[in-house]
Amino acid sequence: LARHFSSASAANPLGPPAFVFDIDGVLIRGRHTLPQAKQALARLYSPDGSQPRYPVAFLTNGGGVTERVKAHQLSEWLGVHVDESQVVLSHTPFRQLAAKFAHEPVLVAGRGQVREVARHYGFRHIVTTHQLTRAMPAAVPFHEDQGLFPGADLPVYTRELKYGSPQHPIRAIMVFTDPADWYRDLQLMTDVVLSRGMPGCWPPPAGAPPVEVYFSNPDMLWANEFTAPRFGQGAFSTCLDALHLKLTGEPLPHAHHFGKPHAAPYLLIERLLVQQAQQLGIEVQEPAEEAAMAVAEAGGVVSSSSSGGGSSSSSSSSSSSGSAQRVRTPLPFSAIYAVGDNPAADVRGANAAGSPWVSVLVTKTGVATENSTGDPAQVVVDDVEAAVEAGLHRAR
Ligand code: G3P
Ligand code: MG
Repeated sequence: LARHFSSASAANPLGPPAFVFDIDGVLIRGRHTLPQAKQALARLYSPDGSQPRYPVAFLTNGGGVTERVKAHQLSEWLGVHVDESQVVLSHTPFRQLAAKFAHEPVLVAGRGQVREVARHYGFRHIVTTHQLTRAMPAAVPFHEDQGLFPGADLPVYTRELKYGSPQHPIRAIMVFTDPADWYRDLQLMTDVVLSRGMPGCWPPPAGAPPVEVYFSNPDMLWANEFTAPRFGQGAFSTCLDALHLKLTGEPLPHAHHFGKPHAAPYLLIERLLVQQAQQLGIEVQEPAEEAAMAVAEAGGVVSSSSSGGGSSSSSSSSSSSGSAQRVRTPLPFSAIYAVGDNPAADVRGANAAGSPWVSVLVTKTGVATENSTGDPAQVVVDDVEAAVEAGLHRAR
């Protein structure tokens, strides 16, 4: 390993290249792992797949499981060992919001194991739109699950289903992943926002504080097995915002947007890569401990082998313009090749992150079929295998 990097450092005094992979449309299409993906990762790992030979991370606007479960899935799909500290999901930055809402009810939405993920992050007072449907079936008249209280005209709150009542108003809506049932979620989220966290209590008491709304992924489109891209969470948030504007004359207030192309996940990935660099024997200006603390502050999973860590309560850079302040120690990489398929997310985010990030667009396996004029990628290739070859070639 030292020999390998000594040659790299001779060739690249700026350090070795690092590689950051998007998942949907680059490594997988829905349920199918792309054949090029295994080959691509094999080029960056030891022959037995147990150790990365370069800093490698995975940055997705997807989620619905913990980083540990996603790392296990990636290890299965790609035939190499992926650790949870190499993975940033759409909702990873939400981890550091748990302290802010430690004592407040939060509506958690989206497909997958979002309740379990929210509890894993430290949220303790969680309600879902499924539970609200059961507590107030009349609020969702066209929904097939009329829940526990089919005859109830108004919400029936019980000891189990108490969040959303005037005694326990909901303080935040957190969309962890793309919702499945848009009719139900658009209706109930609009109720929660307009009622200031007390759906069914209309008009809300004067002076009730507004509800904060967090979206984890702005993707209008993403690529699954279907021939054409599918609506993503960005399409859902566009609908919620349009409904609020139609009903009140104002766009959705107190909305916070995370996910590529916004800055938060890129800052988090940089810290994860610095941690990996140190573990790979690369001299870094910023000790791994500082990198670990920065990862924890941004909500990421600190790698088990480094000191420091644990989630912190600092507030997130949830600016919708992605203008998080970037105070950066020089990164020990000749380039960070960010391989993606969606110009509006992957290319825009890497280009905005600036050097040493290099945006690499694949045009045969995901959303994009050609380079984008609006968000031009620095490197354009067919697929992820060609992307890795291009990065390694430039590193020589
Ligand atoms: O729901 C996931 C989708 O929006 C995009 O995921 O992996 O291409 O960032 P990814
Ligand atoms: Mg993608």
